Amino acid sequence: MSQRVYIFDTTLRDGEQVPGCQLTTEEKVVVAKELERLGVDIIEAGFPVSSPGDFRSVVEISKAVTEPTVCALSRAVRADIDAAADALKQAKRGRIHTGIGSSDIHIRNKFNSTREQILEQAVDAVKHARNLVDDVEFYAEDAGRADLEFLARLVERVIAAGATVVNIPDTTGYCLPHQYGERIKYIYDHVPNVDKAIISIHCHNDLGLATANTLAGIMNGARQVEVTINGIGERAGNTSLEEIVMAMKVHKDMGFVTGVDSTRLFPVSQLVSQMMRMPVQANKAIVGRNAFAHSSGIHQDGFLKHADTYEIMNPHEVGVPKSSIVLTARSGRHALKHRLELLGYKYDKPTLDGIYRRFLDLADVRKEVNDKDLMELVR
Ligand code: KIV
Ligand code: ZN
Repeated sequence: MSQRVYIFDTTLRDGEQVPGCQLTTEEKVVVAKELERLGVDIIEAGFPVSSPGDFRSVVEISKAVTEPTVCALSRAVRADIDAAADALKQAKRGRIHTGIGSSDIHIRNKFNSTREQILEQAVDAVKHARNLVDDVEFYAEDAGRADLEFLARLVERVIAAGATVVNIPDTTGYCLPHQYGERIKYIYDHVPNVDKAIISIHCHNDLGLATANTLAGIMNGARQVEVTINGIGERAGNTSLEEIVMAMKVHKDMGFVTGVDSTRLFPVSQLVSQMMRMPVQANKAIVGRNAFAHSSGIHQDGFLKHADTYEIMNPHEVGVPKSSIVLTARSGRHALKHRLELLGYKYDKPTLDGIYRRFLDLADVRKEVNDKDLMELVR
């Protein structure tokens, strides 16, 4: 039996923090409805105390979606928590996400505080939030660099105070996959009340390891993942939703499932990219322009014989209309013949060889040869 992993989407909170990516409330509602259609379990809609606009966005998203839980961020500060609870009043299911730094670097430099004071503030915040809503998630910021024994104590205390979910963020994207996995395992092994809450994974991509670290977290027991569409987020970004969903889907033998309709991944990726004015890199896994494009002769030949030779998933599964064969100077005869046939031209071998030679001359100049170029060439 597969185990369910909950998808917590933070495109509209951590993703929207990126300079230039800000959305209006109306735009956020459009994205939130698409996330609901995609099948995410939780939408982190904003940080209500941060601005009147963010407050309004959480209110409007709470009214607009019915299936996912709507989550609002706060610091471990009563005024923040009150604002989050107010903004969530109309949500069918609302969650407050409160928390504080857990590494000594944060405790000393950011809060000028001590571990003991942090424990007290965390417990007070969770208790206060639980008086206002039933679902409270606690984040132990910079848990990736926190002292493990202290982190376990903090997790135990916030669960005892009523946290339903505990988030172990690698805020600075510092950990290697085995280190992050070991942190999650340590929590499961050392926190006596851990089964009373869901442990959540929130990874940043500073070393390009966010997806790998998130998978390591799941494999060590975490059952919620915090992700964004296209991996947008602070600095190098957050774990990308599409990568984590498809990693679990392609590797079914891992035994994890999500509620996401993967055929919506590409359309939602395009929508977020356009609305947030954030282009998707061409070689981005799953949703990039080249994710299903084959350009070298060896790959094209194999792909044309059988798609499985060079594709580990069908583009339809992620909502990409079709794979593509890109004609470049690295392309072979098989791909050229295939494209010409699609255009209605069939040639014997000697003629095709001649066209191929002229095609290579053109491709060296043009970089990519399109259908119009090809038709001129054969004419
Ligand atoms: O990266 C982080 O630690 C965060 C928290 C606010 C959850 O985004
Ligand atoms: Zn974050």
